[in-house]
Amino acid sequence: MNVNGRKYRTIWLADDGWGVEIIDQTRFPHAFETIRLETLEQAAHAIRIMQVRGAPLIGATAAYGLCLALRNDTSDMGLMTACGALLDTRPTAVNLRWALDLMRKTLLPVPPEQRLARAYGMAERICDEDVAINMAIGTHGAKLISEVAARKRPGEPVNILTHCNAGWLATVDWGTATAPIYMSHDAGTPVHVWVDETRPRNQGAFLTAWELGQHGVPHTVVADNAGGHLMQHGEVDMVIVGTDRTTAEGDVCNKIGTYLKALAAKDCGVPFYVALPSPTIDFTLSNGLREIPIEERIGDEVSHITGLTAGGRIETIEIVAPGSDVANPAFDVTPARLVTGLITERGVLSADRQSLAAAFPERVAG
Ligand code: MRU
Repeated sequence: MNVNGRKYRTIWLADDGWGVEIIDQTRFPHAFETIRLETLEQAAHAIRIMQVRGAPLIGATAAYGLCLALRNDTSDMGLMTACGALLDTRPTAVNLRWALDLMRKTLLPVPPEQRLARAYGMAERICDEDVAINMAIGTHGAKLISEVAARKRPGEPVNILTHCNAGWLATVDWGTATAPIYMSHDAGTPVHVWVDETRPRNQGAFLTAWELGQHGVPHTVVADNAGGHLMQHGEVDMVIVGTDRTTAEGDVCNKIGTYLKALAAKDCGVPFYVALPSPTIDFTLSNGLREIPIEERIGDEVSHITGLTAGGRIETIEIVAPGSDVANPAFDVTPARLVTGLITERGVLSADRQSLAAAFPERVAG
């Protein structure tokens, strides 16, 4: 996407052909800064502290992190140890495991002296494929949006609610939930996005709002609790969210609070769509509620908030009564029965085992 007139992806190979550049997402929306990663440890740290985040981008960063590790050690043991270190960074988004499995399966049969070049090639392919997948999701999703637009008065926008950031910043480019929005906007379909702020880390207010603004997409940031009220009053035509892991049965794990939006959408008859790139499907799991590991993050993310002071300083302040306990589950699971459709790169599917398996038979086979 374009930032200040320059085209960016969220991760790219540096000009020297081995370092890896990322956009530091902990600085948004106050600063746009890039960082160079040179070691496995730096890549793992970037994922853990969420300088990069969002399921597809976590996978892409892990793939490049493995390349950086192989610069020091291309042995089987080096490869496996690096995969383990990267896998330990964040537990919920399955794209991390998917990318590392793909890298490991590709690299283990290759002689150690050829592994480094092959690894960089594979990481680049993972990034390019992510972009292609998101563009396909965009095309399928934009059709859904144009169907809604056709039922509206001319010029009246399609109101879409989204949660967290499943935008281009969460992927290599385009985003999953945002790809249909960007394509609709670019094609002249009037859209307006309700952006959930997405406490505790504010990915909606900090990231989604920033990127929609950069692209000129009309949007309004709302407190997380506003969605149900907006739906009750006919202010939301459809919900589109992303996902960190979707099971073979179509249960959708996404940022904490997604489930409540799905419940409200069901009650109000608002279609609830999930933009789902195939690497985010975990065919080894069935029941999302029982089987998906939910990341528990530090309580400071709940008890503190970071923002810009009137004097232009970025400051973190405490907002919870001192001494209170805090809990910070980072994701929740929306059962398949609440999902209207899964917008995948191979079309819009119903959220069930049969549809997912029919669309992605090669993934079921492993
Ligand atoms: O904790 P985060 O910011 O990594 O969570 C991101 C989300 O929940 C996104 O909705 C999900 O990864 C889909 S990104 C296309």
